Amino acid sequence: MAFRPIALHHASRLVNHGPTVLVTTAHGGRRNLMAAAWSMPVEFSPPRIAVVIDKATFTRELAQASGRFALVVPGAALLDASHAAGSCSGREGDKFDRLGLAPATGPVLGLPVLEAGCVAWLECRLIPEPHTQDAYDTCFGEVVAAAADDRIFANGHWDWRADNADLHTIHHLGGGTFVVGGRSVAARPLD
Ligand SMILES: Cc1cc2nc3c(=O)[nH]c(=O)nc-3n(C[C@H](O)[C@H](O)[C@H](O)COP(=O)(O)O)c2cc1C
Repeated sequence: MAFRPIALHHASRLVNHGPTVLVTTAHGGRRNLMAAAWSMPVEFSPPRIAVVIDKATFTRELAQASGRFALVVPGAALLDASHAAGSCSGREGDKFDRLGLAPATGPVLGLPVLEAGCVAWLECRLIPEPHTQDAYDTCFGEVVAAAADDRIFANGHWDWRADNADLHTIHHLGGGTFVVGGRSVAARPLD
């Protein structure tokens, strides 16, 4: 595993293809993570993303209290733990400990970020949007730091191969069933 910093103008590519992510947070000595199937890039520069974080979750409470959250992109090796992270609340105890996950510390916002079993992470400042936050579960974040495992993402490009299948991302179909990303295919001009 070799996580390398990613240029911020390439950060959108880490979630562009719709992987299920883990949203991590920390505030006041507590830390947490949850699964989120709904996230996407929404702005180029500065890079901004949207992620749906239910107002009832502990994640939302910590993200709003601290003004920050991270998106971690798990690989296939972390499929079961990702599902488990979305099936219980951190209010009941530290979910990292319960799931046996040892986070590193993000360089800009100090958020817990996962690297073992994961492909990438993005540290984000929560963009205060009082109307949106009250009305919707959608949260917006500005990406301020990002990194990826250079065995599958390097120089701004994914490189999905049979020999890095453990790092292929996971995509939730619903009800605890996922598709694991597979073959990448380059489009050819039609002429
Ligand atoms: C695969 C999967 C995807 C999920 N996607 C989302 C999502 O996009 N948004 C959301 O608010 N909750 C989503 N959830 C539910 C949260 O992860 C769940 O409510 C979690 O227990 C909240 O944990 P917390 O209270 O510790 O923050 C998902 C759950 C699973 C299993």
